[in-house]
Amino acid sequence: MTRDTAIFDVIRCERERQMKGIELIASENFVSDQVLEAMGSVLTNKYAEGYPGHRYYGGCEVVDIAENIARDRLKQLYGAEYVNVQPHSGAQANMAVFMACLHAGDTFLGLNLSHGGHLSHGSAVNFSGLMFHAIGYDLDEATGRVNYDDLEQKARTHKPKLIIAGASAYSREWDYARIRRVADEIGAIFMVDIAHPAGLIAASLLDNPLQYAHIVTSTTHKTLRGPRGGIIMMGKDFDNPWGKTTPKGEIKKMSALLDSAVFPGTQGGPLEHVIAAKAVAFGEALTPEFKTYQTQVKKNAAVMAQAFIDKGYKVISGGTDNHSMLIDLRTKFPDLTGKVAEQALVSADITTNKNMVPFDSRSAFQTSGLRFGTPAITTRGLKEDQMPWIVDLIDHVLQAPLQDSVISAVREEVNRTMTQYPLFAW
Ligand SMILES: Cc1ncc(COP(=O)(O)O)c(C=O)c1O
Repeated sequence: MTRDTAIFDVIRCERERQMKGIELIASENFVSDQVLEAMGSVLTNKYAEGYPGHRYYGGCEVVDIAENIARDRLKQLYGAEYVNVQPHSGAQANMAVFMACLHAGDTFLGLNLSHGGHLSHGSAVNFSGLMFHAIGYDLDEATGRVNYDDLEQKARTHKPKLIIAGASAYSREWDYARIRRVADEIGAIFMVDIAHPAGLIAASLLDNPLQYAHIVTSTTHKTLRGPRGGIIMMGKDFDNPWGKTTPKGEIKKMSALLDSAVFPGTQGGPLEHVIAAKAVAFGEALTPEFKTYQTQVKKNAAVMAQAFIDKGYKVISGGTDNHSMLIDLRTKFPDLTGKVAEQALVSADITTNKNMVPFDSRSAFQTSGLRFGTPAITTRGLKEDQMPWIVDLIDHVLQAPLQDSVISAVREEVNRTMTQYPLFAW
């Protein structure tokens, strides 16, 4: 077959876009060459429904080795007793937990989407909100932190079967012990979704929720810097029969329920090329260099948040404990929406995303906020002294979001600087 230039031209353009810009989307990162190589390997050709040693297809003895390496490394990374590395994405991992723990229509509690929660934590347009009865807890308006009183009160009133901590736009440490106490009080399962801070937790720079939660889910592609995918883990509670009763009337161990909720419950064949790439990423995350990297991610975020504050921006909660921050544009630019701000910054090759802020007066399509994160620029090699420079560039653009001359001057400076930070070896 002749080379598919239509697609390979797209890949070349995307590669150039990634190289020339400043990538500030908090959920993105740049994987290593070995992670890319594993993902683009012949393992994509193999069907392997089931789990290592128990497959529904022949010829799985080789991919079994990769999946077992991924499982062992992941257990070591977080001190987990049980892991499942097959979920195709973070949302799939969460769906499997719902399937293992709840019946359709059951009540669960998660952080409101408009306060930083994720779609799969109860949004009305997601399976979690469509098939289950979702109750949302909020942030505190004054502090910008989780309102634990609200969470506890809603837990006691609604008696959810599942309580979810974790978020897509929340920059502070969680009080997992407090949530576990109320979960135990009402007999709920406590799940933490660490999709965003997974890398910082792996590097012991944030509290490890495996000590408190029954179940932990994550993506592997954000701070953890692996391929796109999901994982499920359990700590000491893995052996407990907390799951729902099966149609045969048996009460199964939660680990067995989770395995069957992933396959055959919600997925078919696992992506063994992606699982191999997850194994590579977990191996990288076990090295001292990864801890150095995560320390820099956190330092860059703290300096960036302070630089925004110094320029008169409102940073929700007044700073960050992790890799991300949420800016409320209304204090500095009352008429500027997140949508217009995002478009102006993207035109200047600074990529970020509009985001609702807690108690936002605008819709999710307009928003009053922007979310920023430092995982990707830290992988590029940028250090804390460059964070005020980035905030200056952002500020220039937001002062004049519709002025082409300002945007092209910023874009030239961004492109000139980023060529000094090479990205891919091949
Ligand atoms: C907290 C959280 N959970 C789950 C997900 C879903 O991950 P995926 O996009 O891989 O389905 C995200 C993605 O942004 C997230 O932020």
